[in-house]
Amino acid sequence: MSDQVNGLQHNQEWPELQLPDLLHSSETLRQVHATIEKEWDFLQRSACQTAAGRAMWKHVIHDPLAALLAGENYLRNLHEKMMKDRLNNAHETSGVILAVRTLWFDSRLEDFLNSPNGREAQVVLLGAGMDTRAYRLNCLKDSDVFEVDFAEVLEVKTTILQAAKESTFDSQHSMSKAKSLTRVAADIRENDWMEKLQIAGFLPQKSTVWILEGILYYLAQSNAMQLLRILASNCVLTHTVILADFMNKSSTTLSNSVFQFYSDWPDQLLPSIGFTQVKLAQIGDPDAHFGLLNDPLNLFNKLRSLPRSLQTNPDDGAPCCRLYLVEASGSPDQNSAHNKESVIQS
Ligand SMILES: C[S@@+](CC[C@H](N)C(=O)[O-])C[C@H]1O[C@@H](n2cnc3c(N)ncnc32)[C@H](O)[C@@H]1O
Repeated sequence: MSDQVNGLQHNQEWPELQLPDLLHSSETLRQVHATIEKEWDFLQRSACQTAAGRAMWKHVIHDPLAALLAGENYLRNLHEKMMKDRLNNAHETSGVILAVRTLWFDSRLEDFLNSPNGREAQVVLLGAGMDTRAYRLNCLKDSDVFEVDFAEVLEVKTTILQAAKESTFDSQHSMSKAKSLTRVAADIRENDWMEKLQIAGFLPQKSTVWILEGILYYLAQSNAMQLLRILASNCVLTHTVILADFMNKSSTTLSNSVFQFYSDWPDQLLPSIGFTQVKLAQIGDPDAHFGLLNDPLNLFNKLRSLPRSLQTNPDDGAPCCRLYLVEASGSPDQNSAHNKESVIQS
């Protein structure tokens, strides 16, 4: 049996901070990371924080490019937090949510692409940031992949990946495994992002998986709802799947929170706008665990034992900050069956 605490073996050293040589030896990388520090806002920087999470949880996530994309500062920050957690015998380790989330998205995406509806499906990553699924996942070999984010983010990402490819860094990791990979510079709050996506080759009639990982709660309520409605409207055209993480209200109302959109009941919200099937998991559920949350006193176990309607824990008054992992789908067949049912019931 596994003898793990928070995903790390008892007898194993906690991950050391090993910076890839290229971060220092490449003038290009030094320059782009200096630009990120000087010029990027918190939204764009969140892309590097997320990559740092995948890099520091490399004992469970194989993402060799993550450290190059994250840069030294974000790696150091997270490493320090993890070391503090270790010294304090914390019940959960910094970055564990990100690790579970990444593994959950990977597994749901792979399962769908291996299903009859998923064969050759397009995959669109909205707010793709420094995500490297196109380089990591073999299951994308028959998929056209589109990465949508701000122009500055995608340009820097391309520059870093190009520098990795041209260096002695294991070039096998710098090759996309997807059938095709297209970067689309767009702001998903604007009205033209879908048009830009289509100009880049996205086919509205083709089965599609939309990945919304770490993005919805950075949007205002109106922008997030508009985005979800656009995706739901695709269910009448083709088999459509969204994989998304949702914060609940308590998560967004902490002081200094930069988060805006929340939903306490995404499993009710998504059917109300046109998705017919919704599955919801919480961190720590059997399908959102991955052996990383073995301390019985971890926060996620506590939350899962409380009704979802509670915004504060009755025992200690702490806010119940939840992150829901949600898979929703719809298709023209399901939609017409759903509509017929609604007519019969009305
Ligand atoms: C927390 S990061 C997540 C990145 C990626 N999905 C991942 O999990 O690694 C959020 C990303 O969303 C992008 N983003 C935020 N608002 C956006 C918008 N309105 N349009 C396009 N991208 C946006 C940011 O630039 C950033 O790359």
